[in-house]
Amino acid sequence: MTEKFFAPCPRGLERPLSDELGLIGASEIVVDDGGVHFSGGWDVCLKANLYSRTASRVLWQVFSGRYADEKDIYDIAYGLPWNEWFDVSKTIRVNMVGIKCPLKSLNFAGLKIKDAICDKFRKVKGSRPDVDTHDPDIMVHGFLTTDGIKISLDTSGEALFKRGVRQFTNTAPIRENLAAGILMLAGWKPGIPLLDPMCGSGTFLIEAAQMSLNIAPGISRSFGFEKLAVFSKKLWEEIKIEAVNNELEETALPIWGSDLYGDALKTAMINLENAGFADCVSVKQANILDISAPAEKGILVANLPYGERMGDVEELKQLYPQLGDLLKKRFAGWNAYLLTADLEMPKSIRLQVSKRTPLFNGALECRLFEYRMVEGGNRTKKVETH
Ligand SMILES: C[S@@+](CC[C@H](N)C(=O)[O-])C[C@H]1O[C@@H](n2cnc3c(N)ncnc32)[C@H](O)[C@@H]1O
Repeated sequence: MTEKFFAPCPRGLERPLSDELGLIGASEIVVDDGGVHFSGGWDVCLKANLYSRTASRVLWQVFSGRYADEKDIYDIAYGLPWNEWFDVSKTIRVNMVGIKCPLKSLNFAGLKIKDAICDKFRKVKGSRPDVDTHDPDIMVHGFLTTDGIKISLDTSGEALFKRGVRQFTNTAPIRENLAAGILMLAGWKPGIPLLDPMCGSGTFLIEAAQMSLNIAPGISRSFGFEKLAVFSKKLWEEIKIEAVNNELEETALPIWGSDLYGDALKTAMINLENAGFADCVSVKQANILDISAPAEKGILVANLPYGERMGDVEELKQLYPQLGDLLKKRFAGWNAYLLTADLEMPKSIRLQVSKRTPLFNGALECRLFEYRMVEGGNRTKKVETH
């Protein structure tokens, strides 16, 4: 049976996500703001959860229609066969999102859905599920527009950027799905030399190593769909076995990371160790201004400090032109991708921007600036600074 799904993702990553969904056999793929709609059987839903590196979660759409007021919302929710989708012993939570929703309170609309679910269970089963706002088994999503309502059941559980390998963080780590998406936007592919000279806790390095060794990002974690009545353990085992069979042997990879601070590097090393990549990726402590290209060509990716320890505005202003010089002098032939929330950065780095992509790191609006370091070229070209 074909079902409808929606996978939200960080804004700016909709295209890479739609490519990923195409590869796992999704159909009717439609890119929207902040996510991608698709259709498919349960195998596609399970694979989207297991394989997508850019999705934040996968929602199973169980209703789409129109509403006028809170009573409609209650009636619509009451009409749905909740008891066929999960057992009364499961705890629930209702999340509401509204865009141009005319209702006074989204919370109240959410309560209507919760009441309808409980009343329906009481009628059909004689008892109702408990609410757990902190760690529910089943998350119900309500999405309201001016007069449209969609109701979905979450199939992911914890957000998909949580890969299931314990990750320690230091200051301002980037989310795993944003890091993976940036690698995709940069056109990085396994085998292309990759350097993150401001690696912090090592998120880009780990995502790139996972991609290189063909390791499904969700292979070590559990998912919300395991609590739904439709869940087939047999299908899930088959999908996981196929994923594990496709993993490649651990090997040294052309992936390098460095960071100015020893404690950041220690975190990166622990995370690489936990992920099983300690012998695949090379890391060292270094100031970005002292490093050289580890290969003739490659991709340099960095999430620049901004407003944290070293992110003092004056210090950064001094760093940018030096970084520009470094890229020109030592990274000819490389493409650099710099993520920053500092929209003034391009003026100070004094390099020709070849592409800028708006992205969101959590709630923080950022840009990914692309610099193509053509051999001997960037210095003399007309400088486009913003
Ligand atoms: C925004 S954080 C990067 C976070 C990283 N992407 C992660 O996911 O953990 C910026 C990093 O730049 C490092 N850094 C700051 N100044 C540096 C410099 N001059 N050379 C190298 N690294 C530097 C900081 O220690 C910090 O770890």
